[in-house]
Amino acid sequence: MPYYQSRGSIPPKRHTQHRAADGSLYYEELMGEEGFTADSSLLYHRHLPSALVDARPWALADLATEPNEPLLPRHLRLPELFKDADPPQTDVVIGRRLVLGNDDVRISYVVAGAPSPLYRNAIGDECVYVEAGDARVETVFGALRARSGDYVLIPRATTHRWVPDTAAGPLRAYAIEANSHITPPRRYLSQFGQLLEHAPFCERDLVGPGEPESAGDTDVEVFIKHRGSGPSGIAGTVHTVPWHPFDVVGWDGCLYPYTFNVANFEPITGRVHQPPPVHQVFAGHNFVICNFVPRKVDYHPLSIPVPYYHSNVDSDEVMFYCAGDYEARKGSGIGPGSVSLHPGGHSHGPQPGAYERSVGVESFDELAVMVDTFRPMRLGEGGRAADDHRYAWSWSGRGPSA
Ligand SMILES: [Fe+2]
Repeated sequence: MPYYQSRGSIPPKRHTQHRAADGSLYYEELMGEEGFTADSSLLYHRHLPSALVDARPWALADLATEPNEPLLPRHLRLPELFKDADPPQTDVVIGRRLVLGNDDVRISYVVAGAPSPLYRNAIGDECVYVEAGDARVETVFGALRARSGDYVLIPRATTHRWVPDTAAGPLRAYAIEANSHITPPRRYLSQFGQLLEHAPFCERDLVGPGEPESAGDTDVEVFIKHRGSGPSGIAGTVHTVPWHPFDVVGWDGCLYPYTFNVANFEPITGRVHQPPPVHQVFAGHNFVICNFVPRKVDYHPLSIPVPYYHSNVDSDEVMFYCAGDYEARKGSGIGPGSVSLHPGGHSHGPQPGAYERSVGVESFDELAVMVDTFRPMRLGEGGRAADDHRYAWSWSGRGPSA
């Protein structure tokens, strides 16, 4: 994030002595993006943040992908992936199942009930959308509370762990992992990074971590996802560190994890249909994240509120239907927890009858998170397992076997 925050105890001048009450020095760590030329924070540790005592491989979940061939629009029923998990024993990190991915972004889904290990994604930023449930996301910067409807933005290389509140039911998480950073779109920002008046949210809607918390454990394991020799060039390693990584007494800077709740996205509407970029919330390299929230719809007297048919000439469109009643998809089998993949090269739009039914409708009660990618999405093992194999024929009403 581009705006400055500070927590805990920091010295008045950067790169100078910062001492504990017993006179010992705290260890300053700069966490900075793009080779010290972009956003950064300074963290003050009780112990050496570079200390290691052991390392072993982490056998990652299946990250292999297959191309979307023959080219088809698809309906992926994500709840099917965890229907036998009651109560779920897995966690948000280890239990993720890869739904779709390419060389820029991977989308996974998990229904979790257990705390995750300490984890660090060393490949890119993560944006985890909480479909349902409640959790504490404990980070080296301090803890975040993650609630239903929150996007949880975790910068690359941030050590953290997910602790679901099991009293709130299973934690359903839709994890968007970038190979880059994830930020608000550039066009929402002033020259120096303030969110502008035309942006659909502002700094008040972003919630940073609480005060840094200290854990005294020793010989602690940290699971690291990093570039390597596995599928998609990804590998895993478990480091054992002599002191718990949550030993920070204070930090300041412009790089930190935060949450943004989708209920705080103020929709932009018009007399006639507004294009998808008005729904954008974040951007990464070669992809964007948009959300469709409950809103009043097009008010021209002759408007057609559902989308026009559209050919995403340069992108694949991945829609995650979180809640409500998605007008344009009625009759397709799509419901909460569904994902649709509308690939470039296939023109898509409302299901039969939805175009006509929408005339005169004044509001939509729908909630969906969309990822549009500029490179084709490939199917992960979770995506293949959740495919309904019927959606492609839903506009014509018949498929090859009819
Ligand atoms: Fe679309």
